[in-house]
Amino acid sequence: MVPTIDVAAAIARESGVLLREGFGRKRQLDFKSRAELVTDMDLASERLIVERIAAHYPDHQIITEEGGGREEQSRFVWLVDPLDGTNNYAHGNPFFTVSIALLEDNELQLGVVYAPMQDECFTAVRGGPALLNDKSVQVSEITELRYAQVSTGFPYSRWTDGVTNVPETAEMIMRCQDVRRMGSAALDLCYVAAGRHDAHWELVLKPWDSAAGALIVMMAGGQVSSCAGEPYTPFEGGIVAANPGLHGAIVGVLAEAGRQ
Ligand code: IPD
Ligand code: CA
Ligand code: CA
Repeated sequence: MVPTIDVAAAIARESGVLLREGFGRKRQLDFKSRAELVTDMDLASERLIVERIAAHYPDHQIITEEGGGREEQSRFVWLVDPLDGTNNYAHGNPFFTVSIALLEDNELQLGVVYAPMQDECFTAVRGGPALLNDKSVQVSEITELRYAQVSTGFPYSRWTDGVTNVPETAEMIMRCQDVRRMGSAALDLCYVAAGRHDAHWELVLKPWDSAAGALIVMMAGGQVSSCAGEPYTPFEGGIVAANPGLHGAIVGVLAEAGRQ
């Protein structure tokens, strides 16, 4: 059976309802690394999503953040972040999402990012359009850095691998109108798709953080690449997503910051 966006969106919404019901309650917390949390709700959401995908598509591979996926070898590979923005969630900050993407023969076919507290569901299939709930969205038209509001994130691996994103942010904050660190990369990317952010960059991400949002940005008319401006792949790590008139300038600032 060929997967549909309706099935993926229904699964994201169902797990989002679970997260919403648990939001604000005292959570069972574990530290995966110095700043990286996992809660009982990450695990509950992941179990629900994997169960639902497997019930619809039993022979598909499912790669998930918390490791509860399925190893079936298949042309179809799901990338699942059951709770993107765990640190926000654990602190009672309502900026978090469920992110689900599907690759067919390594090519992104569909993406859904659901923000339960705002009841905003961003979706796209290859070929477009990008939707927020039922309305199509477009990237912004701001092409000058000085007027651009951009977002970023700081890798939880910064204490171990030294990739901090601090020099890049220092450069960007002096060149752009302002920089946001919202705490859910999937939602940051959807905000680029909806024109709420003019660009998002991040130096280190996992496939489940970026895949769904990247497709949604592309289908909203945006440009998505690695931080060096190479073609985007979910497995490379870094990402620059922006409207096409701004994208090159963001890549340029990152290159300059890296040279300093
Ligand atoms: C994190 C968020 C954050 C990004 C981190 C991710 P998590 O995902 O997307 O915005 O900056 O790199 O790891 O851990 O909340 O699923
Ligand atoms: Ca994540
Ligand atoms: Ca997560």
